[in-house]
Amino acid sequence: MVDLGGLGPELERARARTAALLERLSDAQLTRQVSPLLSPLVWDLAHIGHFEELWLLRRVAGHEPLRSEHDDVYDAFAHGRSERGALPILPPGAARAFVADVRRRVLAQLAELRPEPAEPLLEDGFVVGMVVQHELQHVETMTQALALGGLPGPAPGRPPPVTASGEVLVGGGPFTLGAGEGEPWAYDNERPAHEVEVDAFMIDRAPVTNAEYTRFIEHGGYEDRSLWSAAGWAWRQAEGVGAPRYWERGAEGWIRRRFDVVEPVPGTEPVQHVSFHEAQAYAGWAGRRLPTEAEWEKAARVAASELQHMQGAVWQWTSSAFYGYPGFRAFPYREYSEVFFGEEHRVLRGGSWVTDPLVARPSFRNWDYPQRRQIFAGIRCARDA
Ligand code: AVJ
Ligand code: FE
Repeated sequence: MVDLGGLGPELERARARTAALLERLSDAQLTRQVSPLLSPLVWDLAHIGHFEELWLLRRVAGHEPLRSEHDDVYDAFAHGRSERGALPILPPGAARAFVADVRRRVLAQLAELRPEPAEPLLEDGFVVGMVVQHELQHVETMTQALALGGLPGPAPGRPPPVTASGEVLVGGGPFTLGAGEGEPWAYDNERPAHEVEVDAFMIDRAPVTNAEYTRFIEHGGYEDRSLWSAAGWAWRQAEGVGAPRYWERGAEGWIRRRFDVVEPVPGTEPVQHVSFHEAQAYAGWAGRRLPTEAEWEKAARVAASELQHMQGAVWQWTSSAFYGYPGFRAFPYREYSEVFFGEEHRVLRGGSWVTDPLVARPSFRNWDYPQRRQIFAGIRCARDA
C-alpha cells in the first residue's frame, strides 16, 4: 500500500517544472492568447490548480469548492482553447496564489488520507499520480505555446542529436500491448493489457533527422501528389505547406525559429514540428511507412537497447487511429481519453525532449489531429520485413 503522504515530493517536482517554465515571463506574456491552438499560459496555470483541487481536495477529501465559478472557466470542455483569452480568467498574481493555496491544502491533506483498499482512485496512489501527470502534460502544452509565441523556452531547448543509423528487425509473434501490473499510474487508455499478433517488421534505429528531411524537401516531396493521402494533399494545398513549422528558406540554407532564437537548421537533430500527413509522405518517399502503435510498443519492449531516442527526443507519429483497447473502461473520467476515440485522431508514441520520463512510459498513448504541428513530434520509419 502506497503511503499517500510520501507522494508530496512528486507533486512538488511537477510544480518546480511549471514554475521554471513561467518565471521569466511578464504578466502580459502570461495573459496573451498566443494562438487559437493553445490557451493563454495563465489559463493553463490555474487549470492545473483547479484539476488538483477537484480531484485531491473535493473528490478524495470531500472539501467544498474554493471558488465555484472556476468549475466553468477552467473546464476544458466548456470552452475551446481559442476562446479562453476572452474568459474571466484569474490574472497571473491571483492564479499563482490560487495554485499555491490548493497545493498547501493538498500537502496538509495527503498525510491525513488513509488509503482505503477498496477505493480504486487511491490504490497505489493513482489519483495523485494522475494529478502529477496532468501538470507535467500541461508543462508540455505550455512549452508549445512558448514556441508559438516566440517566447523563451526551457533548457535544453531542443531534442538531442541522432548518432545511430540503420534498422532493427523485430521478429513476428504475439506480445502484450498495454500497461501491466507494474504500471499503476498508467491511464485508462493504456488498459487492459492484451495479447496481439504482430508480423515481423523492420524499424529504424533513430528518428528522421533534419538533414534527411531536407533531402525530402529538396527532392520535391511536397510537390509529389503520389506521396500524399487525399486528406494530406488537401491540407498541404490549403495551407501552402512546404517545410516543417518554424522553418524558412534562408540565403545559405534552411533556418528556423526555436522559441525566441532564429538559427540555421541543425542537420543531426531529429526533425520536429511535422504533421502526421508530412510524416506519412516522408515515410513513403523513403520507401518506408509509419509503424502501427502496436509495432512501436513491441519494438520499445523487445528491442529497446538497439533503438535510439524512443523517448526523450520527439513524439513519433504512428499510422494508428486512437481507439480504446478491447475491454476498455473509462477511469476515472470519460473526458481524459474516451471522448477522443475515433478516426479523427492519430496516436503518437514515445515522448519528446519536453515530456517528463514519468509520463513517457512505453505504453503511454498521445494523440492529436493529423494536421497539427505545434507538438514536438517527428518521425520514426518502419517497413515490412
Ligand atoms: C494527452 C496531451 C492529448 O493536452 O489534451 C491535459 C493531456 N488532458 N489535460 C491534452 C491532457 C487533460 C492531453 N493529451
Ligand atoms: Fe488539462
